[in-house]
Amino acid sequence: MNIKKVGVVGCGLMGHGIVQVAAQGGCTVIALETEQAYLDKGISRIEKSIAKLASKDVKKGKLTEDQAKDWATEVRGRITGSINREDLADCDLVVEAIVEDLDAKKELFGALGKLCKAETIFASNTSSFPVAEMAVASGRPERFVGLHFFNPVQLMRLVEVVRTDATDEDVYAAARAFGEACGKTPVSCKDTPGFVVNRLLVPYMVQAINMLDRGDASAADIDAAMQLGCGHPMGPLTLTDYVGLDTTLSILEGWCERYPNEPAFGIPDSLRSKVAEGKLGRKTGQGYYTWEGDKKS
Ligand code: 3HC
Repeated sequence: MNIKKVGVVGCGLMGHGIVQVAAQGGCTVIALETEQAYLDKGISRIEKSIAKLASKDVKKGKLTEDQAKDWATEVRGRITGSINREDLADCDLVVEAIVEDLDAKKELFGALGKLCKAETIFASNTSSFPVAEMAVASGRPERFVGLHFFNPVQLMRLVEVVRTDATDEDVYAAARAFGEACGKTPVSCKDTPGFVVNRLLVPYMVQAINMLDRGDASAADIDAAMQLGCGHPMGPLTLTDYVGLDTTLSILEGWCERYPNEPAFGIPDSLRSKVAEGKLGRKTGQGYYTWEGDKKS
C-alpha cells in the first residue's frame, strides 16, 4: 500500500507541520481548514518554515542557492489548501489534527468514513484520546491508526504509530512507512493514555509545576536544572509554555476523567487558573513565563 495523496485536517500548530513534512516526503497534500483565514495563516507558516529549512541547507553547504530554491518550490507545489471536506475523497491517507475535542473528532471521522474511498486510511494526531473510539466512529476501524507527531513537527524526529486491536497489519505498515517518508523514526505503541511520550512527559511537567507552586525552586532554576543536569533542550516549565497550557490541561482532564484514581494525572491549581485567565503559554505571551514572540522576556 503506497501512500501518495494525503489529506491533513487542521492547519494549526501541529497540522501545518504535518502538511509540510508529508510534502517534503514527496506526497501530494491537501490542507483542510474550516475557514480561509485559518488556512492562509497555516500556509504562511509553512512557507516561512520551508524558506528557513532551505536557507539552512545553503548555509550548511548541503544545497546550492538554486537547488534550495528548486526544493522549496517543489515542496510548496505539492500542497493545496481547501475548505471543502469533499476534496479529501480520493486521498490515500487522511490525518486529523484538529482541536482536542473527542466529539468533534468523532463527528469528523464519521463524515469522512462516508465521504472517502474505501481504501483511504484514517489517522488521528490526538495526544490524549483513545484511538479506538475514533476508529469505531469512522466505520472502518481496521483502516485506522494513531499518528502522533511532536511540536515543532518540522524538527522533532519521532512519530508514534498507534495501533488498536482492530488495525489491519498492512494499514499499520503503510502508516509506519508514511512516518518514515516524512523523515521521522516511527515507534509502535498500543492505544494507552499518552502513548509513550506524553505518558512520561506530562506527569513530569506536572511535577515541575507543583515544585514551582510549592516554592521549592524558581521557574528559571527548575528549567536550568533539567537542561544542565539532564541535557534536555528545554526545561519542563518552558516546555509547558511551548506545548500550551490549554493543551496540557486538556490532556490531563481527559486522563482524569478516564482514570480518576491515577495520582500521576493530578491537575495543579495554577494550571487551571492560568488557563481560565487566558494565559496559555508562548502563543498568548503569558504562561509560566512572559514571552515576546518566540523568546522569553
Ligand atoms: N521550521 C523550520 N525551522 C525551525 C522551526 C520550524 N518550525 N522552528 C525552529 N526552527 C529553527 C530555528 O529557526 C533555528 O534555526 P537557526 O539555527 O538557523 O537559528 C533552529 O531551528 C533551532 O531553533 P532555536 O534556535 O529556536 O532553538 P533550539 O536550538 O532550542 O531548538 C527546539 C528548538 C528544536 C524546539 C528545541 O528547543 C527542542 O527540541 N525543544 C523540545 C521540544 C519538545 O520537547 N517537543 C515535544 C513537545 S511534546 C509534544 O509535542 C506532544 C504533544 O502531544 C503535546
